[in-house]
Amino acid sequence: MTPHLEFKKEDISNIVLMPGDPLRAKYISDNYLENSIEINDVRNMLGYTGYYKGKKITVIGSGMGNPSMGIYSYELYKFYDVDYIIRIGTCGAYKDLKLMDVILVDNSCSESTYAKVLDDYNLDIVKSSDYLNKLIEEKAKEKDINILRGNIHCSDVFYKETNNTELIDKYNCLGVEMETFALFSNARLLNKNASAIITVSDSINHDLVLSQEEREKSLNMMIILALESILNIGE
Ligand code: HPA
Repeated sequence: MTPHLEFKKEDISNIVLMPGDPLRAKYISDNYLENSIEINDVRNMLGYTGYYKGKKITVIGSGMGNPSMGIYSYELYKFYDVDYIIRIGTCGAYKDLKLMDVILVDNSCSESTYAKVLDDYNLDIVKSSDYLNKLIEEKAKEKDINILRGNIHCSDVFYKETNNTELIDKYNCLGVEMETFALFSNARLLNKNASAIITVSDSINHDLVLSQEEREKSLNMMIILALESILNIGE
């Protein structure tokens, strides 16, 4: 037990998928996992442990933003001995991305103070796991799923009134989301693995957004890619 999670160590896999929305965790459990049990409902941050093609896996929501992702991923790594976390989420597009494009994130770039406060890490960029990325990339090729590789801007602010693109230009960020910087920072500090598979859900001024049907289709593609990739962990 931790302040935010109520289950026991035996109830969780060392491999975790984290969508932002806890109801997506329930969706993955209902549609993709066998013998799945609910392990957490504290603050409605639903979590499930079950089996995908015989591999034990846990799915739990991260909530929105670095602080929420920071709390949950830290507790999973530190107190539950989780080794691998893959975020599956959405982003807004900066560059020539199209809705439903899927990005495997190389680096998370952020103005956030999360890593500075965490352990005096002073850079504005933090990398994802080479090991997980390799598995994901191989699986995407095998399954003929088209993915892009690149950097993402991890912002603490969704509704912005300024147009400062300094960080975005510095690292050539493809799009913007709000959780990878805390996740990758925790993995870096605790010597664990974290990666992120992100679908483009809207354009940056929010004038184009995925329909419900497109959202579901791209979500399913990400879920399958993530689940299939984790089958090869430790092989
Ligand atoms: N901004 C930040 N995070 C996001 C966005 C966005 O436009 N779309 C999906 N996650």
